Amino acid sequence: MIHELRDLTEEQFAIVATARAFADEHVRPFSAQWDRDSHFEPSLIKKLGDLGFLGMLLPVEYDGLGLEAKSYLLALEEIAAADASVAVMMSVHNSLPTQMLNAFGTEAQKRRFLAPMARGELLGAFALSESDAGSDASAIRCQARREGDDWIVDGTKAWVTSGTHAGVVIAMIRTDTPDDRRRSKGISAFILTPDLPGFTVAKKEDKMGLRASPTVQLVFDGMRVPGDRMIGVEGQGFIYAMQSLEHGRLGIAAQSVGIARAAFEAARDHASERKQFGQPIAEFQGIQFKLADMATRLSAARALLHMTAAAKDRGVLVPGEVSMCKLFASEMAMWITTQAIQVFGGYGYVKEYPVERYFRDAKVTEIYEGTSEVQRIIIGRAVSKE
Ligand code: CAA
Repeated sequence: MIHELRDLTEEQFAIVATARAFADEHVRPFSAQWDRDSHFEPSLIKKLGDLGFLGMLLPVEYDGLGLEAKSYLLALEEIAAADASVAVMMSVHNSLPTQMLNAFGTEAQKRRFLAPMARGELLGAFALSESDAGSDASAIRCQARREGDDWIVDGTKAWVTSGTHAGVVIAMIRTDTPDDRRRSKGISAFILTPDLPGFTVAKKEDKMGLRASPTVQLVFDGMRVPGDRMIGVEGQGFIYAMQSLEHGRLGIAAQSVGIARAAFEAARDHASERKQFGQPIAEFQGIQFKLADMATRLSAARALLHMTAAAKDRGVLVPGEVSMCKLFASEMAMWITTQAIQVFGGYGYVKEYPVERYFRDAKVTEIYEGTSEVQRIIIGRAVSKE
């Protein structure tokens, strides 16, 4: 559809063209195989870094591109339309760890970690969840205790995207003490690197979708973390994480739009080629109505995303707005990928065609970076206060 490109500035148009060309050359031809092999392609980190796509929102002084949110989300949609696994690597890196460092890190932390992250020399990951603390994120148990200027950390983090290849992991860890528990106020954010003694990349999850994106557990066993690795103020890590997730959830909404677009386009093309009862199935009103509903919901999600991104850039976001965007876009992606399989019929159910991968990849957008139920909690709280 043309209107998705209609209101772009020249610069945004160039970013879309660059991202599309990159996806066509370096991603789309390999996606089915990477999915089959659960293969994360490490060379993509440098390639995306060379394009500036791993520092899109970061200031130029830290080697970022200093772009506004819409440009970044447009690029992310293009990458997600080719491969949702590559998109989540790009989304997590550009939102959670880099945005937290940029907002709350010291100048020394930014020079040491943020600038190499913007250049794609260090990939970023984010470790908040644990096996017993998913939606209830402030129930984390991973614990740090002081030893001189250092912290000694024990515990296990779960569901860490890109954890196998991350050069920087921003981890939320308890710094309150067993006799003075402070729930969300007892959590601090730390910059971890895999060279810290006691840091281990443990179990890699065998997932339904996003199979080319490694999701791992990280085990910290008496891990010694220098004191200057704490970000910002002790006890503020949960709030920093929630603020970073506002960037992250927009990224997941863009990823959802990209997956849904790929599924819609595949269904539309298949419907005009596939003949049954003597005519292309696209000529049956039942299929046309399905395509019409898919296109309408896709456009609505993209419009909501770009509206929310613009509000974020202008600093006028209101509580709940990002969650609305993530909720609507992820449920739209699940619905559209389901419809795409229906349009393909039996061919949608086999791995020869990409739509079953889109369907498997879409599902997690309703789960990670806050489930649809968590988004509804946030929206519900916001609208009932208005
Ligand atoms: N900005 C600033 N502060 C915020 C905030 C935000 N967006 N959200 C919450 N806070 C503050 C609150 O104001 C509150 O502070 P006060 O006590 O001073 O008022 C404090 O944080 C605690 O907030 P709540 O009382 O709302 O906390 P809660 O325990 O009720 O939890 C929740 C709220 C919305 C359910 C939250 O826990 C949540 O978002 N859970 C989902 C976590 C999540 O998204 N995890 C995904 C992890 S990342 C991932 O998926 C992996 C990956 O790599 C892709």
